[in-house]
Amino acid sequence: FSNAVILAIETSCDETSAAVIRGGKEILSNVVSSQIEIHERFGGVVPEIASRKHVESITLIIEQAVKESGLALKDISAIAVTQGPGLVGALLVGIVAAKSMAMALEIPLIGTHHIAGHIYANELVHDIVYPSLALVVSGGHTELVLLEREGVFQIIGRTRDDAVGEAYDKVARALRLPYPGGPHIDKLAAEAEEAISLPRAWLEADSFDFSFSGLKSAVLAVINQTRMKRLELNEAALARGFQESVTEVLVTKSLRAVRQYGVKQLLLCGGVAANRGLRAALTDHCASAEVSLLIPPNSLCTDNAAMIGAAAHLKLKRKQFSDLDLKGDPGLSL
Ligand code: KG4
Ligand code: ZN
Repeated sequence: FSNAVILAIETSCDETSAAVIRGGKEILSNVVSSQIEIHERFGGVVPEIASRKHVESITLIIEQAVKESGLALKDISAIAVTQGPGLVGALLVGIVAAKSMAMALEIPLIGTHHIAGHIYANELVHDIVYPSLALVVSGGHTELVLLEREGVFQIIGRTRDDAVGEAYDKVARALRLPYPGGPHIDKLAAEAEEAISLPRAWLEADSFDFSFSGLKSAVLAVINQTRMKRLELNEAALARGFQESVTEVLVTKSLRAVRQYGVKQLLLCGGVAANRGLRAALTDHCASAEVSLLIPPNSLCTDNAAMIGAAAHLKLKRKQFSDLDLKGDPGLSL
């Protein structure tokens, strides 16, 4: 299987993506069509519109991915698709396309977990050394995942309310910044000369769980108070205070988990891995703790089908194929 070619499809949220991956490592093509511009005016992803846009573009995106790979359909060994979690209507579009292709080409179908995809995006650029720990931070997820060995996941911590990216987007919205707000807050925070001090949610002393809704409320309270008193809001200082709180909690808990589980490698994955504050703090702390930090390039951190192909390759090696009655599962567990 070392040179097996996988055509992977990802439609769990607002990116329609198809990729061709050879040997689990080599990206022959990775076409991503973002719907951000469409959802921007609503301030978030509208599920109904997302499904419709996936339907409109999926065949074109798949065609383009095959074309850019330089290979023909007969060269493809398996079709991989995101089975969940995600928006159910959006997932179904990718799943129907994947099943049709698997059936027509008479090749295996591999249902893949979206978070496994974010984690194994790292395999496209580095080699994972087990046991490893992944910090998955995106618009829909905040999880600390222990990887004892390949394909074995244990979620040791997760958010109890908002995902990190979701908190970023909500704070950005309160500051009237465009959607998605994460990159705008990141930029504002970098420009700040000072930081407004905000609370940190540590939860129970031994817990690896996270909570960001209290922090988000604290930010909204600062904004409302300043507006009520008709004072000028130092938006940059607020953005920096918010980012510092998020970063400190993420970094502290990740490094405590690294020590507790004796891992030598931390994988940062998901869209929020692009955050400069988080990258810088993790880089520092991992260096002092002599832990190697792996971060895929930004294009592989945000939703894309190449990462799904990378995760599916490991299933292909073990012949973990799916039936053609595969169902989309918005709450699929890892
Ligand atoms: O992984 P992703 O593309 O989609 C999901 O699976 O959710 O992550 C998107 C999230 C959005 O919430 C976006 O605001 C956030 O990642 N994000 C950032 C940055 N770039 C993207 N958050 C903070 N700082 C950034 N630089
Ligand atoms: Zn994602």
